Amino acid sequence: MRDDRLIAALDVPNALQGMKLAEEIGDAVSFYKIGLGMLTGGGLALANELKQEHGKRIFLDMKLFDIGATIEAAVRGLAQFELDFLTVQGDPQVVRAAKEGAAGSGLKILAVTVLTSLDRADLDANLIKPGDVQEIVLQRAANAFEAGADGVIASPHEAALIRALPNAKGRLIVTPGVRPTGSAKGDQKRVATPAQAITDGADHIVVGRPIWTATDPRAAAQAILAELP
Ligand code: C5P
Repeated sequence: MRDDRLIAALDVPNALQGMKLAEEIGDAVSFYKIGLGMLTGGGLALANELKQEHGKRIFLDMKLFDIGATIEAAVRGLAQFELDFLTVQGDPQVVRAAKEGAAGSGLKILAVTVLTSLDRADLDANLIKPGDVQEIVLQRAANAFEAGADGVIASPHEAALIRALPNAKGRLIVTPGVRPTGSAKGDQKRVATPAQAITDGADHIVVGRPIWTATDPRAAAQAILAELP
């Protein structure tokens, strides 16, 4: 059964390894995330191959940030590949430009609020206004929705709060930082189980290492899907 709530992150260095992994996983996963780490290793070609030849849905995690004209041009170029999700930084002018670039295509624009690797000290160093990080995440999510974002990337710990925002209706919440019961956290700090993330309002969960480092990635993916409510 296709359950596209699970997005498996293909965080391997190149397209060859990515395709091998996707073949091992087979029909257990129907949605893959390809990120910047693989861009120089044929990531876009892999995205196309998985989409066009294997019927997979594709999330391109590029977290774009630039002037509006450049964002619009970059997204217009990417939109022709008929991929499904693309991340941009959640600044309203970036989101608006990305939506312009995606116009007429099925590409959904997901906004990054505050990278989950940043804490208050990092935000201070980046001259981001004072205040609670979670409060800033919520404000950035609301602003991104206002600017037209189809959804946001959020920690599972913020999913319920974002879902409760007045303008979150019909928007997607996609959460990394998900760990199946009993698996290693890696460098993720604030993790939740697949079931918690979905119950708290996530539409999709992104899982990387618990799948791609497993001796049996297909079985690992199936076990995660079996945990979903
Ligand atoms: O291996 P793991 O399950 O931690 O992978 C999570 C994936 O989600 C990685 O590709 C990581 O880059 C991405 N991600 C994240 N936290 C964010 C945004 C993206 O972990 N805030």
